[in-house]
Amino acid sequence: MADFPVRGLSRQHIDRALDAFAAQDKNWRAGRVPLYVFRGDHDAYEIGRDAFFRYFSENALGANRAFSSVKAMQEEVLEMCLSLLNGSADMAGIFTCGGTESIFLAVRAARSEARLKRGLPKGRGNIVLPITAHPAFAKAAETMDLVERRVPVLEDGRADVRAMADALDEETVMLVGSAPCFPYGVIDPIRELGELAQGSGVWLHTDACVGGYLAPFARDVGYVIPDFDLSVPGVASLSADLHKYGFCPKPASTVFFSNSERAGLAGFDLDVWPSGRFVTPTLVGTRPAGGVAGAWATLNFLGAEGYRRIAQRIMAMRDAYVEGIEAISGYGMLARPDLALLAFADPSLDMPRVAAMMSEKGWLPGMTSRPEGLHIMLSILHEPVREEYLSDLQACSAIVRQQMEAGQDGARESAKY
Ligand SMILES: Cc1ncc(COP(=O)(O)O)c(C=O)c1O
Repeated sequence: MADFPVRGLSRQHIDRALDAFAAQDKNWRAGRVPLYVFRGDHDAYEIGRDAFFRYFSENALGANRAFSSVKAMQEEVLEMCLSLLNGSADMAGIFTCGGTESIFLAVRAARSEARLKRGLPKGRGNIVLPITAHPAFAKAAETMDLVERRVPVLEDGRADVRAMADALDEETVMLVGSAPCFPYGVIDPIRELGELAQGSGVWLHTDACVGGYLAPFARDVGYVIPDFDLSVPGVASLSADLHKYGFCPKPASTVFFSNSERAGLAGFDLDVWPSGRFVTPTLVGTRPAGGVAGAWATLNFLGAEGYRRIAQRIMAMRDAYVEGIEAISGYGMLARPDLALLAFADPSLDMPRVAAMMSEKGWLPGMTSRPEGLHIMLSILHEPVREEYLSDLQACSAIVRQQMEAGQDGARESAKY
């Protein structure tokens, strides 16, 4: 156990220690990590990082009272993103610290609306969602005393709208669709879910945390992307993470609501403590203004042209990865990816064993558990290592096949997020 330091260390000592800490990590800069870090363009990364550190000390909690600049940047970011996602002027957004917080706020607002407008009693309520929806919904449901009803998906990995309709009842506060879902990388049929939402009067949340800032540009450069955004009738809220395929410094996410009344239900307003009225639109209090400045700078530096350029590169790389994976005998995609998130397997192989072997070669294996397979969210960091990844995958798979045929045991990696 580390004792609290008695004396401070020199700057040089700190630098060396931090270098030593960083050396313990997986080599994400060399494309060895299949999630967690998203890089679109080196200059945009530097611009975002510098803006972040210019606003290193300011606190976005004080945006309304002390830091007008942070408020202005936040508003601009939300307006720009609302227009990108085909929202209208009567819609409203909130800048948050991540997909999980965006989802929490949407669930909180949906639950409040059900209580206010439909008389849902406290302690009651459920969310109907595909099995593939992110665990953030489970966290939110558990925290807010809602029951999750996870529904199996269709063979193509997409939400089964009919089965979701069957799972609905008068206590359902939210329906969920993903754009795309994390496990298989496919976009759920948001238009059909919107019809279900309108027909049943239930709130639909589109979780575009992964795809929100890639899908519009992938579509612009000619890829066919199913409808998912704020123009789809019936969508009550939509989350989209700037710190994923928006390539902005963490933490940065957005959540949009179909009207400002709904956005207001997500926020918090308290006047009973002895320090005056406490109002926050977010779940967290203090939050980094650097995330806001970094997002403003990245979006403005790249512009739609820059994002299109990156989308073109990422989607072309996605095609090359898919082709390379499918060229390895036995391998196929678990689902046809809509964007740059791939899940794949050779069903005749022990995939956790392939993953363990890839790990020995220095790759952090992204994995799926049902069915067992490999998983990767591609960004520009993965561009230079494609050949190496594919040849290691082929070699590891061949060894595992031989071992299996010889009846030998081998280490297995377990699927973790
Ligand atoms: C589809 C989806 N939704 C939500 C999230 C949660 O985002 P965060 O990790 O920023 O809280 C993720 C994270 O990977 C995701 O893939």
